[in-house]
Amino acid sequence: KTIFLSDYQAPAFTVSHTELHFELFDKHSLVHARLHFRRADGVSEDTPLQLNGQELELLALAVDGQKVASAHYELSDDFLRIDGLPQSGVLETSARIYPQSNTSLEGLYRSRGLFCTQCEAEGFRKITWFPDRPDVMSTYSVTIDADAGQCPELLSNGNLMHSEELAEGRHRAVWEDPHPKPSYLFALVAGDLQRVEDSFTTVGGRDVRLIILVEEKDLDKCAHAMDSLKRSMRWDEERFGREYDLDVFHIVAVDDFNMGAMENKSLNIFNTSCVLAAPDTTTDLGYQRIESIVAHEYFHNWSGNRVTCRDWFQLSLKEGFTVFRDAEFSADMGSRSLKRVEDAMTMRTLQFAEDAGPMAHPVRPASFIEISNFYTLTVYEKGAEVVRMIQTLLGEEDFRRGSDLYFERHDGQAVTCDDFIAAMEDVSGKDLTDFKRWYSQAGTPELSIRDSWDEEQGIYTLTVSQQTPASLGQSEKSPVVIPLAMGLLGEAGNLRIKLDGEMTDIESEDNTHRILIADKPTQTFRFTELPERPTPALLRGFSAPVRVDYPYSREQLLALVSRDDDDFVRWDAMQQLMVSALQELQENPEAALDPILETAVNAICSQILDPAVQADMLRLPSETYLSELASHAGKADVHGIFRARESLRKSLAKVFRERWASLFEGLRVTEPYAPTGEQIGSRALANVALDYLATADDQGVALARDYYFAADNLTNRLVALRAVLREGSAERGEELLEDFYQRFCGEALAMNHWLLVQAENSVGDSISRVRALMQHPAYDSRNPNKIRSLIGGFANGNAVQFHREDGAGYQLLGEVVEALNAQNPQIASRLLAPLTRWKNYAAGGDLMRAELQRLSELPSLSPDVYEVVNKSLA
Ligand code: ARG
Ligand code: ZN
Repeated sequence: KTIFLSDYQAPAFTVSHTELHFELFDKHSLVHARLHFRRADGVSEDTPLQLNGQELELLALAVDGQKVASAHYELSDDFLRIDGLPQSGVLETSARIYPQSNTSLEGLYRSRGLFCTQCEAEGFRKITWFPDRPDVMSTYSVTIDADAGQCPELLSNGNLMHSEELAEGRHRAVWEDPHPKPSYLFALVAGDLQRVEDSFTTVGGRDVRLIILVEEKDLDKCAHAMDSLKRSMRWDEERFGREYDLDVFHIVAVDDFNMGAMENKSLNIFNTSCVLAAPDTTTDLGYQRIESIVAHEYFHNWSGNRVTCRDWFQLSLKEGFTVFRDAEFSADMGSRSLKRVEDAMTMRTLQFAEDAGPMAHPVRPASFIEISNFYTLTVYEKGAEVVRMIQTLLGEEDFRRGSDLYFERHDGQAVTCDDFIAAMEDVSGKDLTDFKRWYSQAGTPELSIRDSWDEEQGIYTLTVSQQTPASLGQSEKSPVVIPLAMGLLGEAGNLRIKLDGEMTDIESEDNTHRILIADKPTQTFRFTELPERPTPALLRGFSAPVRVDYPYSREQLLALVSRDDDDFVRWDAMQQLMVSALQELQENPEAALDPILETAVNAICSQILDPAVQADMLRLPSETYLSELASHAGKADVHGIFRARESLRKSLAKVFRERWASLFEGLRVTEPYAPTGEQIGSRALANVALDYLATADDQGVALARDYYFAADNLTNRLVALRAVLREGSAERGEELLEDFYQRFCGEALAMNHWLLVQAENSVGDSISRVRALMQHPAYDSRNPNKIRSLIGGFANGNAVQFHREDGAGYQLLGEVVEALNAQNPQIASRLLAPLTRWKNYAAGGDLMRAELQRLSELPSLSPDVYEVVNKSLA
């Protein structure tokens, strides 16, 4: 059933206070609820109270202490409807549920014995009957009873009010959350966990206890998350004026979790992979990810919890804004350029693909079948880019004032993206009506930019046209407001810019940087008083989530790589040089290495840059990105892309052998491992060099093998392992895999990586290997991290074998999705994504489509899988 944004209706009943009493047992649990309800003003008395509820056994139902007669209620698979209710009162229900057999990991479930919850978006209805929609906000009192031996820790949102011993070895805790919240922010945790404690004093003088709860074996892996949390709390005060509002803040780590983490009020629940960190089990990227996710969930306390969403179509209101906030935090903690380059990479590789695929949707979708399918790169990452563009258009100062006004005006409310925009308009006096098209229009806008040069007058003209491709249900698109940051590069550096005419634009201080506003189908910008014909440096800082088409010559790209002021532009120019070299190799496998590309590599190596950015510039564009580009231009030939990429890697490896060797030697980190920006940068660049060295010759493979054994951290170990698997003999590869397993088989998080490298290894018969690993004790077919590593890793990160000509890769994915459809629909539908892009491929598209067709005919498809399968077949 499709739900439409345009059908929104305010709730007929509110619930001001909710009392829950949980009795947790091994074989089942009981949930007793008391809802203090009130009929909303203007709602007629014959409107029934409609509560969501799924997989609940009704044991008792009463209103104001009186049992409800069967004539007055109706119970179905999804709802409980009660009529004849007074204007206000207390509705009491009792339900029996079965957390231990809940494999969907939604609602209340058990993970390695631990009771925990995941309610966003619509999981609360699997716990108790409730108007499970974010615009019904309620205070909560929660009583938890459980076995004291099994569950020494009993936690819920807010403050602990009371605890006591009960008969038969059981005990009780009572929690109260004074902040009204929607049901999706409810959380409960009960189990045997150990604590790491610290504290934080807010700017207003509130002492907050910070508690991270983990299994005993993981106690030594919490320091990084705790440190990240404290830095997030300080940063949000300083940058956004947001202070924490309770005396305690919990983070709980659980092994079985569908997503990364969840911002439940004062009781954040995290996937272990997004909170636990140790040098042996966490990569540098992992450390950075933990820092940003801890910050993200913490920042939700304001952008999401204090001010929440009216309905799920507004998801980006909290997610886009919060991703923007966490990106700014990461930029401030580490390198701003690096963060920007990596976010741009994600957008262009993955979000653009989503925007071009069958599940394309606007940042604020207009309809959905299953909301879980809309926790997407579009809602999160593109949503964050939209918020960033607002900041660009308003300037940082007004943006901050807009944010302050938004929080002040809507504290305690459930609001819409329009309310966010209105606050920004009100403080700045700017009209964002046209800008709002970013929220309603799906697809990636394409800027086509052409130029001309008047030598005599010194006038340079840019003609900027935009177009957004049609998508399902949106055939006609209008222009969007695109802040196009740019500069003009001359022989000796960036030129001063004089812009002619009454064009809207935002100017920088030093006059070498402009933000043009492209908001029409076509417009021209005239730059005057120029001493020479410039090279345009376009979309600096990735100022908008758009594709840019400008016919750069290789010489111009080299100039940008060598001399532009903006790291994104330089990185992008290098990518374009490599992409063009790869395209040439695809057409002509004998093509010689482009001398301009050679010069560019030399230029990058001899510059003083952030080494992590340098590493990104020297790395080949990913196969996924190349496929995305190819399918945008026509159809992708994944095998051709793979061969070209291997061949370019080989050439670069050999031609620059000496350079890689000296880079590698010069950058070796000798201090003990620390995830500092400095070390991470050095490692990144050294490891790019090592990877090329291993590609160059056997001596390099031997070096990688030694590097593997000498590693004191997972980053180096994995780089070496991957290089040996790709370039070395089968025996060498097996030796290291076996060693890795022996070292870390007790560490679930390291085993995720062990599965992932094997899934992504395209040498040999990957499919047999993946099938064998599915039977291996290190795998667990119920654990989302393991599924993502092995099956997701194979389908997304091993293109040549996933797209094997006999269709065995598609079949494998189809089988797993089929099994997961009943067990964990959210994971099943996410895993499906690579199959849905069948239209992108020159070969194999039909077989992919056939697998989707087969899935579509299965009996009892979950709404999650149903929606994705049907939209991709449409
Ligand atoms: N709100 C969470 C976050 O942004 C994500 C939870 C998504 N859960 C889901 N079942 N789709 O961190
Ligand atoms: Zn979030």
